[in-house]
Amino acid sequence: MSEDKKIPAASVGSSSDNPFKSSSMERRGFFKWLSLGWLAFAGATGGFFTVMIRFLFPNVLFEPPQTFKIGFPDDYSTNAVDISYKKQFNVWVVRDDETIFALSTTCTHLGCTPNWLQTEGKFKCPCHGSGFRMTGINFEGPAPRPLERYKVSIANDGRILVDKTKSFKWEKGEWENPESYLTV
Ligand code: FES
Repeated sequence: MSEDKKIPAASVGSSSDNPFKSSSMERRGFFKWLSLGWLAFAGATGGFFTVMIRFLFPNVLFEPPQTFKIGFPDDYSTNAVDISYKKQFNVWVVRDDETIFALSTTCTHLGCTPNWLQTEGKFKCPCHGSGFRMTGINFEGPAPRPLERYKVSIANDGRILVDKTKSFKWEKGEWENPESYLTV
C-alpha cells in the first residue's frame, strides 16, 4: 500500500499564507517602533532636563567691583599714566604735578577703549581716531567730550580708593569737585 506524502500547507506558499512568518515580522515591526518611541522619549526628556538645568544655573555676569584700591600715592610717577588697572577695572591712573586722578577708559564717542601712546603723550581711540590728552580732554576725532573721571579718596590704610559709582564730567564743571582728584 503506497502512501502519498503530503506537504503541509504551512511550509509552502507566500508569507501571507504563513502565519508564523507573518507574526514574526509584526513582532519585529513592533520592536522597531518601540525602540524609536524610546529614543524619541529619551531625546525629549534629555532636552527638558537640559532646559531645566539651564534655568537653575542662569548666565551670571561677573563684573569687577566698582570700588577698589590702587596702591599708595607714592607708587605713581609724576606726569605719567599708569595702565595697570585698565584691563581689570577699565581705569587709567594719572598723576600730574599736583594731583592724581582716575580716568575712565571708555571713549566718549561710541564707547571703544582707547590706548595710551606714551611717545605721543595721548590716548588714541582705535575705532574712529579720537584723541585725548593726558588730562582726558578730547582734542581730535569725533569724540564730543572729554573722558570721565572717577571718585578717588584715601582709605584708612593710606591707599588710594577708586569709586566708579561716582563719575565726574568736565563739561559740567565736575572736575572742580575735590572728590574727582587727590592733591599730592
Ligand atoms: S568710539 Fe572712540 S572714536 Fe569712535
